[in-house]
Amino acid sequence: MNTKHDFIRPVVDRDLKLYIETYGCQMNVGDSEVVLAIMQTHGYTHTTQPGEADIILINTCSIRDNAEQRVLGRLKELGALKKKKPALIIGVIGCMAERLKEKLIEQERMVDIVAGPDSYRSLPELVGAAQQGHKGINVLLSHEETYAEITPVRLDKNGVSAFVSIMRGCNNMCAYCVVPYTRGVERSRDPETILEEVQDLFGKGYREVTLLGQNVNSYRWTKNDTDMDFPDLIKAVAEISPLLRVRFATSHPKDLSDKLIETMAETPNICKAIHLPAQSGSSRMLQLMNRKYTREWYLERIAAIKKAMPECSISTDLIAGFCSETIEDHAQTLSLMREVGYEFAYMFKYSMRPGTKAARTMTDDVSEEEKTRRLTEIINLQNELSLESNKRDIGKKFEVLVEGVSKRDENRLFGRNSQNKVIVFPKKDHKPGDYVMITVKECSSATLIGEEE
Ligand code: 5AD
Ligand code: SF4
Repeated sequence: MNTKHDFIRPVVDRDLKLYIETYGCQMNVGDSEVVLAIMQTHGYTHTTQPGEADIILINTCSIRDNAEQRVLGRLKELGALKKKKPALIIGVIGCMAERLKEKLIEQERMVDIVAGPDSYRSLPELVGAAQQGHKGINVLLSHEETYAEITPVRLDKNGVSAFVSIMRGCNNMCAYCVVPYTRGVERSRDPETILEEVQDLFGKGYREVTLLGQNVNSYRWTKNDTDMDFPDLIKAVAEISPLLRVRFATSHPKDLSDKLIETMAETPNICKAIHLPAQSGSSRMLQLMNRKYTREWYLERIAAIKKAMPECSISTDLIAGFCSETIEDHAQTLSLMREVGYEFAYMFKYSMRPGTKAARTMTDDVSEEEKTRRLTEIINLQNELSLESNKRDIGKKFEVLVEGVSKRDENRLFGRNSQNKVIVFPKKDHKPGDYVMITVKECSSATLIGEEE
């Protein structure tokens, strides 16, 4: 762990308020909750108003250039706040902090603290240094840090569903991806602490947990006479209560085992939804991307899932316009989408990230205009597929876990079915956390609309 520094002790002489803003993936959302827990034990209180904060932390993402540009824009706004209140401390934490390190402080004068994803335990000391006029930086990556015993302070607030981090880092080295550089090597969290955290959430009324990691299927814990892989872990989590739903994200296709498929199929409260990022439908692209599977191999995994669980929904991530992608490669992505019939997809234009294998050894040679055109085709096709999938649900009955009141109509509630589709329905006497049987009557490409029957 990276806490062996001669840090200046924090000066907390009054109730200091901390505001955290989170960009990027669900892992970052979970990390902000860990950061809040660490800061609270050092006497800081949370505020949702940047204007009243003494310390502002921005938890950042580096996955695509536009994610970084958004944060840089936000820092300019916060710089104006700091002009009015010079004692305000601004920290950049997370992936961008790790990628840019001291450059962030050199380039963005309003930044006082830079802390990478493995150095959050040192944040109170870094803030203490900043309070005494120093710049605080810690971007050491760790082989062990999992924040295992820290109970995150939940920021989600629906009180029904929570994310639980089960591993950190990534060893896959996909050619386009910055994550191995910003989050370091893969390490799994002690299962005992995971089970305790979930048990505690269930006791507080939560009814759904999503087990999180960059590649949850390679979860493995082999210490203290235990040998646990991901199927063992998810089974143990599901055994906490039949009233608890369990989800997971994200899976790398190369590690999606038959054992996991069997475990899902035989355990009713493990949700029937798999997020299986394909990235491309072209085996040539997949090889260049260093994905370690082919189109055929991916389709075989999909067939295995559908055979064991015909009702399972499948979602994906797709990248348009990776280095040297031809029209034929792109057509293969469209045909893969049709063949799988994805329920849902996250779709992106390729964005070259400095330091990655693609940036070092390949040419970002698909024009911006062509990337946009291909991405639009992918998005349009996905909208069609989502609508078709939703139409197939009309007339079917699903168990829905209620999450909250519909934004558009206070007489309706919304929740999700096991397949992770959002269903809106009349409120009656139900409340968040209830399970309700709903029959689907209508749909759009994004939502199912149903009634209790
Ligand atoms: N450009 C565009 N999309 C990317 N992703 C990861 N790196 C890049 C990149 N450089 C996408 C992948 C991944 C998701 C989290 O983000 O689809 O699965
Ligand atoms: Fe962004 Fe990836 Fe870091 Fe998540 S892990 S914040 S997606 S760069």
